[in-house]
Amino acid sequence: MSNPLRLGVAGLGVVGTSLVRLLQRRHAALAMRAGRDLELAAYSARRKDDRGVDLGDAVYFADPAALAASAGIDVFVELIGGADGIAFEAAKAALSRGVSVVTANKAMLAAHGYELAILAERSGAQLFFEAAVGGGIPVIKTLRESLAGNAIERVSGILNGTCNYILSRMETENLPFGVCLSEAQRLGYAEANPTFDVGGFDTAHKLAILASLAFGARIDAGAVSVEGIETITLADLAAADELGFRIKLLGVAERTPHGVEQRVHPTMVAKSAPLAQTMGVLNAVSIDGDAIGELTLVGPGAGGDATASAVAADIVDIARGLRFPPFGRPAASLVEADRVPMQRHEGGYYVRLAVVDRPGAMGAIAARMGDELISLEAIMQKRATKEAAAAGVVPVVLMTYGTTEASIREALARTVEDGVVRERPQVIRIEREAA
Ligand SMILES: NC(=O)c1ccc[n+]([C@@H]2O[C@H](COP(=O)([O-])OP(=O)(O)OC[C@H]3O[C@@H](n4cnc5c(N)ncnc54)[C@H](OP(=O)(O)O)[C@@H]3O)[C@@H](O)[C@H]2O)c1
Repeated sequence: MSNPLRLGVAGLGVVGTSLVRLLQRRHAALAMRAGRDLELAAYSARRKDDRGVDLGDAVYFADPAALAASAGIDVFVELIGGADGIAFEAAKAALSRGVSVVTANKAMLAAHGYELAILAERSGAQLFFEAAVGGGIPVIKTLRESLAGNAIERVSGILNGTCNYILSRMETENLPFGVCLSEAQRLGYAEANPTFDVGGFDTAHKLAILASLAFGARIDAGAVSVEGIETITLADLAAADELGFRIKLLGVAERTPHGVEQRVHPTMVAKSAPLAQTMGVLNAVSIDGDAIGELTLVGPGAGGDATASAVAADIVDIARGLRFPPFGRPAASLVEADRVPMQRHEGGYYVRLAVVDRPGAMGAIAARMGDELISLEAIMQKRATKEAAAAGVVPVVLMTYGTTEASIREALARTVEDGVVRERPQVIRIEREAA
């Protein structure tokens, strides 16, 4: 066997300690697959204290950038996190001197993925990031390598386990958003400040990475339209169920006549679709390619061991000498991402309205929809709660056939102006099933 591959691991938190354990547990098998020993040569963390893992003779660096610049490592494994700051500085330091980088850091890639890819290509280093999207799900390799023979039409996924856990519990146990969020925090799924997850931003980072791989565009998190799940109510989940849907927070990147749309929002997904059947903290990604049709990968989107599994696979690839442009094609060929305004989105819509309980109100709403050439597929009047009845409103759910976002927003704005609707209408996009 050739010389061992010397690893410098920066970050010994949830993922870093799981990686160290995995490298020890599967040492012989990994060496066989890699064609050489994988040696933990050095590590960095803020504190040098004991973490319950055997670090052997690995050298400690207080500064991750110094570790990245050390002559004692062949690969820099970045497991610190954060878009900017020390993780980015250290990754740049490694790549610019030709040392390959393995990272799980979606925030850094969403902000600087293109710049890092250029650096890697210039120095001949590899930049691998299987763990950055979908945790243990091998979606990066699937898009970068396995589906190279396809023109990708659409990538859609459940990319945040916290949101999927909250929506699944709301639906199956009829508990409101706030209760399920607290439960997610208690179980360690959600951060103390959960905005990044429930606001859809974490999903947007991951989607921007997938869109770059799928459509050959530079990562541009600013091109993603983002809405979170905070406004989803039990009434929406019950109506979705009645109509044959589940509500999921999806990230969708899709080729359209206006360019590649990138959007994150709560979505009505037909119960028969694989994404709708993905419950709890699991993640799932569906990919539509012209040759393959639709392919769905489902699995653990987070957690130390699952994420370390993806990191280890990247390390083995580097040990074997696998060379790949980070985004599957030369960085210079990556085009600017399209910025398709959400107003141009076309699709079906679910709308829930608090309609004033008086004759002619429904007719006025139908007329406004008609003005915008919107056809209604379903209208359901729901039983009013005590509070709604006291306020003189009845809940009404509409489902439209295909229309544009601009049309539905215009029609709803008019109904509010007409005074036949109280409260802000709830609007949820309906995802078509793959043909
Ligand atoms: N956790 C998951 O399930 C998961 C899944 C997919 C991707 N990821 C990604 O993996 C990365 C790591 O996540 P994690 O959950 O393992 O994070 P974590 O538990 O918070 O661990 C972060 C580690 O980085 C170290 N660190 C922070 N600042 C440092 C500095 N200035 N110098 C040296 N070390 C520093 C910390 O040191 P101390 O321990 O001394 O404080 C800690 O060991 C992130 O990019 C995350 O997005 C995580």
